[in-house]
Amino acid sequence: MAFYYKEPSHTFGEYLLVPGYSSDKCIPANVSLKTPLTKFKKGEEPALSLNIPMVSAIMQAVSDDRMAIALAKEGGLSFLYGSQTPEQEAQMVKKVKSYKSGFVSSDSNIKPTTTLGEILALKEVTGHSTMAVTEDGTPTGKLLGIVTSRDYRVTRMSMDTPVSEFMTPFEKLVYADAGTTLTEANDIIWESKLNMLPLVDKNQRLMYMVFRKDYTEDKEFENQLIDENKRYRVGAGINTRDYAERVPLLLDAGVDALCIDSSEGYSEWQRITLDYIHKKFGPEVKVGAGNVVDREGFLFLAKAGADFVKVGIGGGSICITRETKGIGRGQATALIDVCQARDEYYKETGIYVPVCSDGGIVHDYHITLALAMGADFMMLGRYFSRFDESPTNKVKLNGTFYKEYWGEGSNRARNWQRYDLGGASKLSFEEGVDSYVPYAGPLHDNVGITLSKVRSTMCNCGALNIKELQDKAKLTLVSSVSIVEGGSHDVIPRDQFTSR
Ligand code: IMP
Repeated sequence: MAFYYKEPSHTFGEYLLVPGYSSDKCIPANVSLKTPLTKFKKGEEPALSLNIPMVSAIMQAVSDDRMAIALAKEGGLSFLYGSQTPEQEAQMVKKVKSYKSGFVSSDSNIKPTTTLGEILALKEVTGHSTMAVTEDGTPTGKLLGIVTSRDYRVTRMSMDTPVSEFMTPFEKLVYADAGTTLTEANDIIWESKLNMLPLVDKNQRLMYMVFRKDYTEDKEFENQLIDENKRYRVGAGINTRDYAERVPLLLDAGVDALCIDSSEGYSEWQRITLDYIHKKFGPEVKVGAGNVVDREGFLFLAKAGADFVKVGIGGGSICITRETKGIGRGQATALIDVCQARDEYYKETGIYVPVCSDGGIVHDYHITLALAMGADFMMLGRYFSRFDESPTNKVKLNGTFYKEYWGEGSNRARNWQRYDLGGASKLSFEEGVDSYVPYAGPLHDNVGITLSKVRSTMCNCGALNIKELQDKAKLTLVSSVSIVEGGSHDVIPRDQFTSR
């Protein structure tokens, strides 16, 4: 006879934290959000930790090299999407690992013949008004000039005017040698009153651009997640099919952690993949696995050698797995069950396997709830997809800006390896949708606000770090009536009245 769970499964929105005693030390500035990423033995430190409990989802619409750099600056980690060729994914890893903070590679491919109309269109897409013009139009071609919005007047000039007629030509530019340090570049920027300094090699080829604003920004990132060579850390998604080919390329490129990306992780395919990687490359190669939603799934992956375990089936914002296949579990219940299994496993074996809560974070406070329930860190897709740094288009619909966001199981992504249970070579049905999310601006500002809320609630619970929160948290289920009580109610918000 089938097994029936006694309780219904719940999700984050059905829980609240009940405050505990806060001492005078409990202020947000004293809260540490450092958390383990990979498993460790009792009394030892994890090989990899995060400085904030956030990783970005293994999705085309979320995690590319630009997102990875922006998130590592904040102290989190991106797992680059795996639904691209191994070579392309390795190239993305290389871009993150070779990124020099403050040194920007050109993202506009402009030749001398590019027209004003084309430049305006490009500006809309990239959001950048300063662009380099190179001989062959490549980001590292011979630098012929720079164009900024001060060089043209849209109302007075024909859209067909080639950029060579209005750019500032190389001869008139202030530039510096490719070996210039960030401090030296900054001095030149200040002395010459520049907004951007191009760095060129001895053949006049463009290497980097240093912007005035980046230098000041760089000083703000105290939490950044870097390796022993001061390079940003980056993760990458893999699948249970082409790992023999993909993993060596990712490792060569310098990837810091891998994660098997699958909609259902309690499978022999994951065990075989973990086994292969650890036997071939050794335990120092870190591989997360998942997704599971109960203790059996967790124990299976922990015993198979997973360095962390990801929890969540069917709770993602773009996910229709539960509707399509009828499988899944409320995210909060799944997380609580798995975290209890993780703690028991730790007691028995002395090995702590971090748990990642993946999907379904809608409000910032859901992050605090997930941490309180035992998660070591979160994986977020929708949250990050809304920012400037996500790889998708920003579009204006009915006067409001949105970003595109689509599931890996949608026809748009065609990531059949994520859903494959053997032998499939295409998606036979969709498990995700193609959607829009409200545009929310730069990652830095949003993550700052989100985490200040998390720190504040942790203080209300008397916790100065995530472990303390997990030990002290008191969680209560709430009735649907009390959920209504939790929002503003029985008042008419002022902004509903237009001023006369
Ligand atoms: P979100 O943060 O709620 O948007 O959820 C993101 C998570 O949804 C990802 O990390 C994946 O685990 C999961 N996911 C991504 N694409 C799909 C899909 O097409 N169908 C179902 N789940 C998906």
